[in-house]
Amino acid sequence: MTVRTAGPADLNAFVASAAALFAEDGGTRDPHMDQSWPARHGHEYYGAAIADPDVLCLVAVDGDEVVGHLLGRLKGPNPVRPSVVGAELESVRVADDHRGSGVGGELNAAFVAWAGERGVTEVTVHAFASNTAAIRFYESHGYVPGSLQLRLPVG
Ligand SMILES: CC(C)(COP(=O)(O)OP(=O)(O)OC[C@H]1O[C@@H](n2cnc3c(N)ncnc32)[C@H](O)[C@@H]1OP(=O)(O)O)[C@@H](O)C(=O)NCCC(=O)NCCS
Repeated sequence: MTVRTAGPADLNAFVASAAALFAEDGGTRDPHMDQSWPARHGHEYYGAAIADPDVLCLVAVDGDEVVGHLLGRLKGPNPVRPSVVGAELESVRVADDHRGSGVGGELNAAFVAWAGERGVTEVTVHAFASNTAAIRFYESHGYVPGSLQLRLPVG
C-alpha cells in the first residue's frame, strides 16, 4: 500500500471514494445530506481540487486499486484568530476492508506534513458527533475537540 498525490487519472476513483464517504457518513447521519451530489458535481469539484496547489488530494493505492483518499486544503486568514495559519482536513475515507491497518494514519500524516511545510500552525476537521470511530481515529493522532455545532430544527 502506498500513499501518493492524486493526479487527473485518479479522478474517477477519487470521486467514487468521496461518494462512498457521503453514503456511509453523511448519508447515515444527516437526513438532509444530498447523496447524489458527488455524482452530479464530484468530477468538477474534485477535478478542480486535484489541480489546485492550495489543496492536497491523496490516494492510498494497493496495487492498481484506490483504497482510500484524503482531501485537505489551506484556509484563508481568519481576522479574529490572526495568529493561526489554518488548514482543513475536508474529507478522508479508507475502504472498509483496508481499515484498521494504518492507511488512515498514513493519509493524515502526509497531510499534516504537507500543511507544516506551508507554514500551517493548526489543522482542523469536522466530524459528526455520532461518528465516534472517526473521532477516536482523530484523537489517536493528536486532534482535540474544538467547537461543537448544535442544531435546532425549526418549523
Ligand atoms: C476514520 C478512518 C479514515 C480511519 O482509517 P483507518 O485506516 O481505519 O485508521 P488507522 O488504521 O490508521 O487507525 C489509526 C488509529 O485510529 C484508531 N481507529 C481507527 N478506526 C477506529 C475505529 N473504528 N474505532 C476506534 N478506533 C479507531 C485506531 O485505534 C488507531 O489507533 P492506534 O494507531 O493508536 O492503534 C476510516 O475508519 C474510515 O474511512 N471511516 C469511514 C469514513 C469516515 O468516517 N471518515 C471520517 C469522516 S469525519
